Amino acid sequence: MCGIVGYVGEQHPKECLIDGLKKLEYRGYDSSGIAIKNKDTIQIIKSTGKISDLEEKIANEKLIKSNLGIAHTRWATHGEANETNAHPHKVNRVTIVHNGIIENATELKNKLVNEGIVFRSETDTEVACAVIDNYYNGNPIETITKAIKELKGSYAFGILFEDQDKLYAVRKDSPLIIGIGEKENYIASDIAAIIKYTDKYILLEDDEVVELSKDEVKVFKDGQPIEKEVKTSTMTIEDANKGNYKHFMLKEIMEEPIVLQRTLNKYIHDMDQMADISDYEEIHIVACGSALYAGMIGKCLLEDKANIKCMTECASEYRYKKIIYDRKTLVILISQSGETADTIAAMRKAHEEGMDTLAIVNVKTSTIAREAKKTLFIEAGPEIAVATTKAYLLQVAMFSLIALKAAVSKGLEKNEKEILEEAKHLPEYLRKVLNDKEIFENVGKEIHEEHSAFFIGRGIDYAMCEEGSLKLKEVSYIHCDAYQAGELKHGTISLIEDGVPVFAIITDDRIKDKTESNVIEVESRQARIFIITNDPSIMNHHFKYVVEKLSDYFQPILIVPPLQLIGYYTALTRGLDIDKPRNLAKSVTVE
Ligand code: F6R
Repeated sequence: MCGIVGYVGEQHPKECLIDGLKKLEYRGYDSSGIAIKNKDTIQIIKSTGKISDLEEKIANEKLIKSNLGIAHTRWATHGEANETNAHPHKVNRVTIVHNGIIENATELKNKLVNEGIVFRSETDTEVACAVIDNYYNGNPIETITKAIKELKGSYAFGILFEDQDKLYAVRKDSPLIIGIGEKENYIASDIAAIIKYTDKYILLEDDEVVELSKDEVKVFKDGQPIEKEVKTSTMTIEDANKGNYKHFMLKEIMEEPIVLQRTLNKYIHDMDQMADISDYEEIHIVACGSALYAGMIGKCLLEDKANIKCMTECASEYRYKKIIYDRKTLVILISQSGETADTIAAMRKAHEEGMDTLAIVNVKTSTIAREAKKTLFIEAGPEIAVATTKAYLLQVAMFSLIALKAAVSKGLEKNEKEILEEAKHLPEYLRKVLNDKEIFENVGKEIHEEHSAFFIGRGIDYAMCEEGSLKLKEVSYIHCDAYQAGELKHGTISLIEDGVPVFAIITDDRIKDKTESNVIEVESRQARIFIITNDPSIMNHHFKYVVEKLSDYFQPILIVPPLQLIGYYTALTRGLDIDKPRNLAKSVTVE
């Protein structure tokens, strides 16, 4: 959600800035822009639509000579997606790009309007720019340090001052890294934007101000210089590219066996490495979107296997609700990006309430990874497609292991060795499912013209249905709902008509007969039934796909790829922008 790149060096900044913006496209955006500067002038070019539209505009302009610039992809929050609202914004001597939300922008704007400042856009960013300009006294570090004290909310700013030939940046609760190169330095929302140029980076903490020239990076806290560690990223250029795949989404699905192996390896040979949550009497699992659906699988496993009371709640609700707990409670937060605003707020609320937190995170440098009391990292590597695939699978896998560990600790599971042995073969089972991808391609071709579809299941199967349904709707734009199979007849069954695709997930032996009867109910109302199961004996319907039967702990993992591939291939057949579905952002850093 919004992306920032900045360059200072010996080259013209255009290539690095555009390159970086393209790598940040996955974060979601609806307009973009660049500002480049030299001693005499600042040139700003903005466009709505795709980066290619911005490139076209740039190609039609005569660019000034420059070796310093900032660029931005904007996902509209304050004001519609037009060129006026697009970043960079310039107020007098200051030009900025911004990711985040200035919560007191209206208040500040009223004050500044009274002082005679004229605003052109509807954005909170232009207000922040005016605040910085108001404080500007020729000393950028002092100015930024003072100005940010006036701002409430979240921000990552890239800043240019009219009379300075350096690049400045500061962040709070929005991601921003500093890239260290050879005779050039960079700022970026994440390392993917600059990995082509450098793998060395510095992580900025909240309200640290940085000054970059081509030879030097200086970081300040409260106006005083501080030392920062230079880290090396493990990301490769290949990670940031699609390789031979048409879309990142398919590439990332096909990577699942490798990343699963990488994630499991740390634990299955030594379960002492796994967090033991068996002492807690109650667990709150809090996350957003797919991460929440992974948590719903976690809840089923923890309750069933480890006998621990669990509740799941989306972070946007949890952060504002009254939390009632009187027992020893753990809050588990799940986030691929580790930057989801609502999940961060929920974590901070849990800390304020004095509760323990455990985070399941992919991005190691993220806010949640840094602030949670304990963190378990999934090893998905960079996930570029907006719709999560491999990270979701690993979140589910992490819950398999958390539940196993807790069940063993409580003496409720006697077969740990056999179950861990099974885990060693998971990547190979997964590969088998992925090798069947043409089967799901055909499903995608078959359903791509439908207007509506349903996923039904019970218990843990229902939790998987939620993800199947989300994947289908978010990338293919086909309306889809997930239902507890037994609940359908209490209203929604009225939507079942001739040919409506109903996907049924049936893996739980204890309730499979019940789900099967619900399948027959909708089939007799002419629904087209697609079954995904681990039981070959389930009656044949229009379509049936059978995965290997595994222990309850790991069974959900094999159901994940079919769900993702159905979504992917349906969207592919519809010819949609799969990696960047409309209106969506990869990392939702605003409420
Ligand atoms: C769906 C999807 C989203 C994310 C959600 C949470 O495919 O990607 O629903 O799962 O926005 O994001 P993270 O995990 O980064 O907190």
